Amino acid sequence: MYKFDIDKYGDKAEFYADMCAALAALTADEPDAIANMANAAALIWEYLPDLNWAGFYRAVGEELVLGPFQGKTACIRIPFGRGVCGTAAATREPQCVPDVHAFPGHIACDALSASELVMPIVHAGRLLGVLDLDSPIKGRFDEVDVTGCAELMAVLGPRLAG
Ligand code: SME
Repeated sequence: MYKFDIDKYGDKAEFYADMCAALAALTADEPDAIANMANAAALIWEYLPDLNWAGFYRAVGEELVLGPFQGKTACIRIPFGRGVCGTAAATREPQCVPDVHAFPGHIACDALSASELVMPIVHAGRLLGVLDLDSPIKGRFDEVDVTGCAELMAVLGPRLAG
């Protein structure tokens, strides 16, 4: 339905702006949160290079529960405060980890993962979940990815609220 080529973009910010437009269009008329997370995971997986896992954990009570994703099977429940995802949920701050093996408490779902970016999804003051991106390349994510993923989740957040 959408076709991008990241190599055609001079800068990644432009790529993320187009990704935001695609995500907004994909989720515009759909109120179902799981359906919107599923399409968002597929869009990100298809167009962001060098990922080995891309998907969502939903905030349920005081833990994160696995949501729609692309990649290998993953751990299902993560208490707030544990690992990279749990830290993002507890602090509501993005976690950009260049070397997951140096992150205390990192939960290794896929032994290939070397770096990770986790973006909390907050809408109307409520933590709805996190976007989790894993890469087999150390230092894969930079500040442009952090800003771009924050923008993507600002689009998605209202589309998860039902
Ligand atoms: N590595 C994550 C766990 C989730 S998986 O990567 C899919 C963490 O430490 O929170």
